[in-house]
Amino acid sequence: MLAEKTIQATKKRILTGDRPTGPLHIGHYVGSLENRVKLQEEYDCFFIIADYQFLTDHFRETEQVERFIMQVLLDWLSVGMDPAKSTFFIQSMVPEIAELTMYFSMLVTVARLHRNPTVKEEFKSSGLRAMSYGFLGYPVSQAADILIVRSNLVPVGEDNVAHVEQTREISRTFNRIYGEVFPVPEPLVGKVPRLPGIDGIKMGNSTGNAIYLSDNQEEVRRKIGMAITDPARIRASDKGHPDICNIYQYHGAYNTEESLDIARLCRQGKIGCVTCKNNLAEKINNFLKPIRERRAYFEARPSIVREAIQEGNERTRKEGAETLGLVREAMHFGYRNLAGVN
Ligand code: TRP
Repeated sequence: MLAEKTIQATKKRILTGDRPTGPLHIGHYVGSLENRVKLQEEYDCFFIIADYQFLTDHFRETEQVERFIMQVLLDWLSVGMDPAKSTFFIQSMVPEIAELTMYFSMLVTVARLHRNPTVKEEFKSSGLRAMSYGFLGYPVSQAADILIVRSNLVPVGEDNVAHVEQTREISRTFNRIYGEVFPVPEPLVGKVPRLPGIDGIKMGNSTGNAIYLSDNQEEVRRKIGMAITDPARIRASDKGHPDICNIYQYHGAYNTEESLDIARLCRQGKIGCVTCKNNLAEKINNFLKPIRERRAYFEARPSIVREAIQEGNERTRKEGAETLGLVREAMHFGYRNLAGVN
């Protein structure tokens, strides 16, 4: 274990993660989890559970947060993200991030934060009446997530590119004013298009349209059964339009081998939506089978889960303390001549 972590120190660093707003869905898998499993073979990966970000729009619902964090951890483990190769941690359990956020907050204008398109959009869909200081400023805290471990690469979806851009600006500004401390991290944007929900709208936790990695076989069948397909098709013998069919996009992701044949049969009106959906539900269930098995394994062994996060928090804190040492030194906040601070 220790030897492995030492080797990691020479690899390029990656930081990415999730908000603990509930269980992860199969859209997360295609969009990012699958990629993380690969990345951890080559990079020193830090995976964050962003509980401060959970607060931006859920600050009244904190009684749920621990359960949500547990769900995300089980989702991660069950897809093959591996704490022996990577570092898992919880944002608020690494207080060094909060300290770094404080320094960074002086380097970003309020006007710049107001221009962040993702913040604007998330605020709109949050249903909140007014935007808190923390909501407006969360990209600064995200910059601290990334830079506390001096990460080089940040795998994100399209919607988070704006945040990585702000992180790059903050990094450059800091380095220019105080001296070179931080890398200017690059976003790694997933090329896979996002899977829609079963209603054709972006898959998400708040909308009830997601298929979860933790769904059982019956739930998967039921949800696919309910899903919207080609709206222009009423009878099975009508010619279908896979390019505008919500469910067809899933075939591309989870039934790649048959997807071209299915498109052809659908266009000819030779396969009905029910058959097509049953086929898909089976493919998704096959895909989820090993994930379910690994989940059951970890669910039965909560001490493994606990250890993974405790070790990860510790390692991140250690890295964070090192970074803060450099930061305080560069900022003349080392205060060597004052008692009690070193
Ligand atoms: N904002 C990301 C999301 O919405 C989660 C996140 C928090 C993150 N901190 C991060 C992603 C740092 C990449 C890097 O899911």
